[in-house]
Amino acid sequence: MAPFTSFFSILTLFLCYAPLKYSATIIPSTNSTKRHHKWVGPSGHLFITVDARGTGDFLSVQAAVDAVPDNNTKNVLIKINAGCYVEKVVVPVTKPYITFQGDGRDETMIEWHDRASDRGTNGQQLRTYRTASVIVFANYFSARNISFKNTAPAPMPGMQGWQAAAFRISGDKAYFSGCGFYGAQDTLCDDAGRHYFKECYIEGSIDFIFGNGRSMYKDCELHSIATRFGSIAAQDRNSPDEKTGFAFVGCKVTGRGPLYVGRAMGQFSRIVYSYTYFDDVVAHGGWDDWDHTSNKNKTVFFGVYKCWGPGAEAVRGVTWARELDFETAHPFLVKSFVNGRHWIAPSDA
Ligand SMILES: *[C@@H]1O[C@H](CO)[C@@H](O)[C@H](O)[C@H]1NC(C)=O
Ligand SMILES: *[C@@H]1O[C@H](CO)[C@@H](O)[C@H](O)[C@H]1NC(C)=O
Ligand SMILES: *[C@@H]1O[C@H](CO)[C@@H](O)[C@H](O)[C@H]1NC(C)=O
Ligand SMILES: *[C@@H]1O[C@H](CO)[C@@H](O)[C@H](O)[C@H]1NC(C)=O
Repeated sequence: MAPFTSFFSILTLFLCYAPLKYSATIIPSTNSTKRHHKWVGPSGHLFITVDARGTGDFLSVQAAVDAVPDNNTKNVLIKINAGCYVEKVVVPVTKPYITFQGDGRDETMIEWHDRASDRGTNGQQLRTYRTASVIVFANYFSARNISFKNTAPAPMPGMQGWQAAAFRISGDKAYFSGCGFYGAQDTLCDDAGRHYFKECYIEGSIDFIFGNGRSMYKDCELHSIATRFGSIAAQDRNSPDEKTGFAFVGCKVTGRGPLYVGRAMGQFSRIVYSYTYFDDVVAHGGWDDWDHTSNKNKTVFFGVYKCWGPGAEAVRGVTWARELDFETAHPFLVKSFVNGRHWIAPSDA
C-alpha cells in the first residue's frame, strides 16, 4: 500500500463543524457496552466519545483514533455524536477492533472533498484510492449508524481525475450496519479483505462500489445519481484463485439510469445479485466488459438469482451474465461467503 499523505485545512461549511484540536483522557467503558464480535482476540474495552459541540472526549474523529494506542488489543467503541465532522480520517493498520458508532446515518456524518487529481503534500496526485474521506487499514473495523461522504462535485461525463471516494476499507473482517456512503464517481472503495455491509445506503454515479474486496451486501440500497450513464459495481478480481467478489443479497437498486449493474474491472471479476429489486434504470445489456479488448466476457463470473422489479430483465441482458441455479447461487447467499461464522454474530448477519 502506498504511504498515505494528506493535508488538512480548516474550513467551515454550512451546517458542518470544523474539527479543532482538543485532548482529553479516555474513560474505560462499563460493562454496559455491548460486545458484538464473539471471536477470541481483543480483551477489555475502551469507550471514547466525539462531539462536535464539545461535550465529548474529543472534537474530531481523527483525534479519537489517534488516542487509541498502537497495537491496540481492546475493543474500542468510538461514539460519534450527531453532527457533521469535516475532516479526513485514517485508521492505521496498528489499530484493530475499532467501532465508529453514530447517532443514525442522517445524524452523524464524516465528510471531506479530495479528488484523484488533487495533489498531496508531496506534490503527487492523490489518485483514486487515496481520495477517500475515511480510510481504514486496520482489521476488525466496524461502523454503525453513521454516514461517510465525499463532497467533491460530481464530474460531467468524460471528465478526468474526478474520482472522489467517500470511504475505503482495506482491512480484513470489517462490518458495517445502518451506514450511508455518499459520493459520485467511486464512492465506496471496497479495496481488500472480507467485509459485510448490512442495511446500508450507497449512493454514486460511476463504479460507485469498486475494488477487490470479498464482500457481502445484505439488504442495502444502491442509489444511482448518474446523469448520462452510470454503473454500480466494478470488481477487481484478477485470478481464478482469488476468493474475492461482491455478493449482493436482498438489495434494492434505485435512482437515475441508464446504468450497468456490474463492470469487469479485473480479468476474473465476480459479481452476483440475488433476491435484488431493480428499478427501471438498468442499461441495455446490463453489464460491461470494461475495455472490449481483454475478452473479459469469457473469464468473469457475473450472475443473478431470483431478482425482480422492472429493471430485472435487463440484468440478464448478456449471455455472459448467467441466471444461476440454487446450487451455484448458494455460496453467494450466505455469510460463509466472507467466512462470517467466525466473526459476525448471528444477530448481526
Ligand atoms: C463484565 O461482564 C462479565 C461477563 O458478562 C463479568 O464476568 C464481569 O464481572 C463484568 N465486569 C464488571 C466490571 O462488571
Ligand atoms: C507495535 O508492534 C510493532 C511490531 O511488533 C512494534 O515494532 C512496535 O514497537 C509496537 N508499538 C508499540 C507502541 O508498542
Ligand atoms: C442503529 O439505528 C437503528 C435504527 O434507528 C437502531 O434500531 C439501532 O439500535 C441503532 N444501533 C446502534 C448500535 O446504535
Ligand atoms: C465478448 O466480447 C468480444 C469483444 O467485444 C465480442 O466480440 C464477443 O462477441 C463477446 N462475446 C460474447 C459471448 O458476448
